[in-house]
Amino acid sequence: MKIGGLDFEYGLFLAPLAGITDRAFREICVSYGAEGVCSEMISAKGLHYNDKKTALLASFTEKEAPFGIQIFGSEPEIMAESAARLANNDYPDCANLSKPDWIDINMGCPMPKITKNGEGSALMKNVALAGEIVRAVKSAVSVPVTVKMRSGWDDKSKNAVRLAEEVVKNGADAVCVHGRTREQLYRDPVDLDIISYVKRAVDVPVIANGGIFSSDDAMRTLDKTSADGIMLARGVLGDPFLFSEIRARLKGKKYEKPSFEERLGVAYLQAKNAVAYKGERTAVCEMRKHLSYYIRGEKGTAEARRRINSANTLSEIEEIISGLKTKYAEEKP
Ligand SMILES: Cc1cc2nc3c(=O)[nH]c(=O)nc-3n(C[C@H](O)[C@H](O)[C@H](O)COP(=O)(O)O)c2cc1C
Repeated sequence: MKIGGLDFEYGLFLAPLAGITDRAFREICVSYGAEGVCSEMISAKGLHYNDKKTALLASFTEKEAPFGIQIFGSEPEIMAESAARLANNDYPDCANLSKPDWIDINMGCPMPKITKNGEGSALMKNVALAGEIVRAVKSAVSVPVTVKMRSGWDDKSKNAVRLAEEVVKNGADAVCVHGRTREQLYRDPVDLDIISYVKRAVDVPVIANGGIFSSDDAMRTLDKTSADGIMLARGVLGDPFLFSEIRARLKGKKYEKPSFEERLGVAYLQAKNAVAYKGERTAVCEMRKHLSYYIRGEKGTAEARRRINSANTLSEIEEIISGLKTKYAEEKP
């Protein structure tokens, strides 16, 4: 699959998850087979006002390429301005070593504080404005422009096909469709049919998203939608290895799941990198949820879980992880 001049062998993407898919986690996902990763959603208005925290969200490393930056907003000029500055690496607070490979526009966020400003999934109710935003952004940057949307606002207005046609007419180089409405938030079912209708309607790559928690889910999604690629979100939390598993499946190769010990090693690496990127206080606090995902489903981890929730330093995390490794080694048959 090609998006603009970018080649993706399998079309395996990591979704943006605000507050979760930071640099440290994205790097791990790339090392396990994600072919494209994206920043968390970034406010175009925040960038416009040179908010330092907002700009920092656009930081990435060379280990993450190809890399997209996702922006949200509802004003075409401000969206275009921030897209152009991002594409030119013109935010001193990011100090990125390279420029992003594409700009993604958020048309799926369901949060009231976003939609009440006509941003995120509210753009599904204003198709003309959505088209204008894409046209403005497209004419401001030379990298590909993509759009991430939902199936519609609610059950009565599932207009992903109409919106996809409009954004493609205005220059979008690919679309990603999360097969749930705004009203559904993250509840099932995921409508795979509507993704297949979008695929039939537009002549740019279509990426399917929603409810992919296993390689079986990935195969079913690709099969039912005929999409060019898939985007994994909650399914890879604590399980970035799912990218490798899906790759193996697509290649028809055997796959062996990593041991608990290996998973713990990866969790520690993520924690160490997060501390290097964000500082210990913020990183360790944010790592608590990641660590719980990494040990999810393992027996005998209640005590570790309790300690994770009050950990404040990297050395505490190291201690918890080595304790789990020792316990695991002792209990191994
Ligand atoms: C905590 C959380 C944060 C999210 N942040 C973003 C975001 O910043 N940008 C975006 O386009 N989607 C965001 N999403 C939506 C996901 O990218 C994805 O579309 C959704 O989780 C559906 O996929 P899944 O069912 O595989 O998790 C977020 C979802 C969650 C649960």
